[in-house]
Amino acid sequence: MGLFITFEGPDGCGKTSIINLIKEYYKDNEKIIFTREPGGTKISEKIREIILSNEYDNMSPRTEALLYSASRAQHIDELVKPNLEKGNVVISDRFVLSSLAYQGGGRELGVENVKKINDFAIDGINPDMIIFFYVDPLTTLKRKSLNENADRLELSGDDFHSRVYDTYMELLEDLKDNEILRKVDATKSMDEVFENVKNIIDKKLEELLWRW
Ligand code: TYD
Repeated sequence: MGLFITFEGPDGCGKTSIINLIKEYYKDNEKIIFTREPGGTKISEKIREIILSNEYDNMSPRTEALLYSASRAQHIDELVKPNLEKGNVVISDRFVLSSLAYQGGGRELGVENVKKINDFAIDGINPDMIIFFYVDPLTTLKRKSLNENADRLELSGDDFHSRVYDTYMELLEDLKDNEILRKVDATKSMDEVFENVKNIIDKKLEELLWRW
């Protein structure tokens, strides 16, 4: 098996900009596959369009949670699992922890309920490493309000985002002694955050080198 790394964090944590720098840094390594959720495959990207479209502001929270997990099931079967079986490294922008925080906490469906449907969706594939972009609530709010092209989730209101944030913090607390969790201080400058994330991934890749 290869290596499955996921990036997590609340909206406005700067994750997407750092992922673009990381992609550029590893661009010559064809064993490293970058992907995202919701998305990553043709079917999952279609589901993403439905989930994030501002047209569907009446979407029920359970529908939303099921669509995220449906998109994830396809992503796992079509992209993540086959690549891990080839010994590749898969780096995904978001995974199950997002559903637990956004749908479990943000939409108030309950972390346990959302975990159940996701257990079915992921078919036993769990991340080897979760890189969490930590920011304080004020910074996320400030960065978020600068975004002019906000999608349905980003437009979900401050109460929703504050529940997402709190749930993420609870999930981090549960994972604090788990070696798969790496917390990165995302309030620092972009250069510093990039250095930090790059070092974490480089170190983890060294463990894999003997297999390549
Ligand atoms: P995206 O553009 O990837 O956001 P970001 O750049 O902030 O990561 O859009 C994904 C949105 O979907 C984001 O607001 C988080 C949300 N989301 C969930 O609510 N549940 C999930 O399971 C996932 C993967 C994402």
